Amino acid sequence: MRAVGQVLTTFLCAAYATGTIIQSYNPVPIYTESGYFSLQANGVRVPVHAFDGYAYAHFSFGDGPVTLNITSKQQTSISSFSISPTRLGLDKTAVISANSISVTLAKPEYLIIHSSGVEELILAADPLETNVPPSSGTGIFNVVSQYGADASGTKSSTTAFQNAIRAAGARGQGSIVYVPPGVYPVGNLVLPSDVSLYLAPSSSLRFTANSSEYTTDWKKTSQNLNGTEWIRTAPGSRNIKIFGRGTIDANGKYAQQTGKFIAHAVVPLNTTNFVFDGPVIRDGGSWTLVPTRSSYVTINHAKVFNRMNLGENDAVDVQESQHVVVKNTVAISLDDPFSTKTWDATTDIAVSYPGVPQPIYDVTFSNCLAWTHCYGFKVGQGTLQEQAKIRFEDSTVYDAAVGLGVHHKWGYATAEDIQFKNMAVEKLHGNNDGHQTWLAVFVQEGHPGEIGTISRVNVENVRVLTRGTTAALVQGVDGALVSNVELRDVWFQDLERVATTLAEMSITQTNFSSNVVVKG
Ligand SMILES: *[C@@H]1O[C@H](CO)[C@@H](O)[C@H](O)[C@H]1NC(C)=O
Ligand SMILES: *[C@@H]1O[C@H](CO)[C@@H](O)[C@H](O)[C@H]1NC(C)=O
Ligand SMILES: *[C@@H]1O[C@H](CO)[C@@H](O)[C@H](O)[C@H]1NC(C)=O
Ligand SMILES: *[C@@H]1O[C@H](CO)[C@@H](O)[C@H](O)[C@H]1NC(C)=O
Ligand SMILES: *[C@@H]1O[C@H](CO)[C@@H](O)[C@H](O)[C@H]1NC(C)=O
Repeated sequence: MRAVGQVLTTFLCAAYATGTIIQSYNPVPIYTESGYFSLQANGVRVPVHAFDGYAYAHFSFGDGPVTLNITSKQQTSISSFSISPTRLGLDKTAVISANSISVTLAKPEYLIIHSSGVEELILAADPLETNVPPSSGTGIFNVVSQYGADASGTKSSTTAFQNAIRAAGARGQGSIVYVPPGVYPVGNLVLPSDVSLYLAPSSSLRFTANSSEYTTDWKKTSQNLNGTEWIRTAPGSRNIKIFGRGTIDANGKYAQQTGKFIAHAVVPLNTTNFVFDGPVIRDGGSWTLVPTRSSYVTINHAKVFNRMNLGENDAVDVQESQHVVVKNTVAISLDDPFSTKTWDATTDIAVSYPGVPQPIYDVTFSNCLAWTHCYGFKVGQGTLQEQAKIRFEDSTVYDAAVGLGVHHKWGYATAEDIQFKNMAVEKLHGNNDGHQTWLAVFVQEGHPGEIGTISRVNVENVRVLTRGTTAALVQGVDGALVSNVELRDVWFQDLERVATTLAEMSITQTNFSSNVVVKG
């Protein structure tokens, strides 16, 4: 197997001919190669990882188009395929020859490729890394060369990481904790102000699920398991970044089933000016990337690959935070991949959060791709503090039970000023609590008497390729209405045009709603 540097070198040579630079990453040795697919990008081999129910591949490219050759290893021919997001139109330009599909990308994208008869392949093409730090030097705290972490993965690296983080924190000034290629079982990492954590390509941080190596921060009642905020920010911190092309592995199946101790994997908690850019997070055994009680948070190029057969493994949950952007992100999880939530001081997971409960507002999800058995993009269910100004835009639901939702199930607070704009719902399957539909905006009385209103919901320019088998909802309850819902330019594949009435949108459950209008 070639080292990252060698691939890059080989490639830089080729780059003079094509203009394109490709960075392919050596697989981390603990992960197995997909038996279903192989991949080349402009002729450079890109490893494809086997995972539970799908395969994924990750590489970066820049300065030109890239032609991908996806080969189905177990088939002699491919009869049909789809490439999500369909709005990119790649289905139309891709070419099949025997058992391979060739498709050209003008710029980095995250894709879900489904060829008939085999599992999905997730193809995560990132832009080239910028600001790659050196592995040593002033302000660099290398966990291996300076702090003695064992890159083989055979023993705990907790002490080395914590010492590196402490030293970086003492210096501050944008100091970087540098993680070279390797496998690192680590305990809690608490990042202080003005420190970045850099995960080099082919590095993997592993959650061990041994409760004696972690703080117990909460007990999740619904799972009856204790858990921790595994990688988090220090209370009251600022200017923290987690970046690179490595992997954060929450080891979720093992954690739920064997270790019996779970993690919220990456938790920007009570921090401001936080950036997450680039790493893969995989196998969440509980909520995975969870900005909480924080402000000015940017999540960019996150790739959250969770299992489709493990419960409560939400991918990105933004909680009680303000001024948050989640962009260019793919999230795959049985439970909700993209959602916003608020709690109160007594909620199980929230009891040890610093400070007091906060409202959530000004959160934007942009250019995101979702695949789940639950809701693709959702406000809720917890609305114990106000939720406002939540935007979902330019994003795609590859497959879900419910495409787009506002589900006010817990709490008395209001959810208002919510927008779904330039969205696509491609496929729907199964059902969530009896619903299989493109849109569900509704209040449910989760506990007796505990209800709150939803108002000002805008649904604009949505492409509905599958509407689902149950009614769409815009529905309140006695005492908590859903009001002021505006729908504009909602296009249905089965109509081959924009729908002009609520009935044409399958919105037939509208009790306790007011001013629900179709515009345009
Ligand atoms: C894709 O790669 C396979 C295996 O390397 C090769 O046989 C096939 O011809 C390639 N297809 C295209 C379209 O380049
Ligand atoms: C859990 O961690 C403790 C403390 O490091 C260690 O003594 C124990 O052997 C570990 N348990 C397992 C099952 O690895
Ligand atoms: C959770 O941790 C507490 C102590 O912090 C312990 O008493 C309890 O048994 C643990 N519960 C489970 C389900 O592991
Ligand atoms: C962090 O918590 C403190 C109270 O403990 C609060 O004053 C501050 O606003 C919080 N920071 C953020 C970014 O929410
Ligand atoms: C809506 O209200 C009507 C009249 O009160 C009732 O018959 C019907 O069951 C309600 N529908 C739903 C879905 O709650």
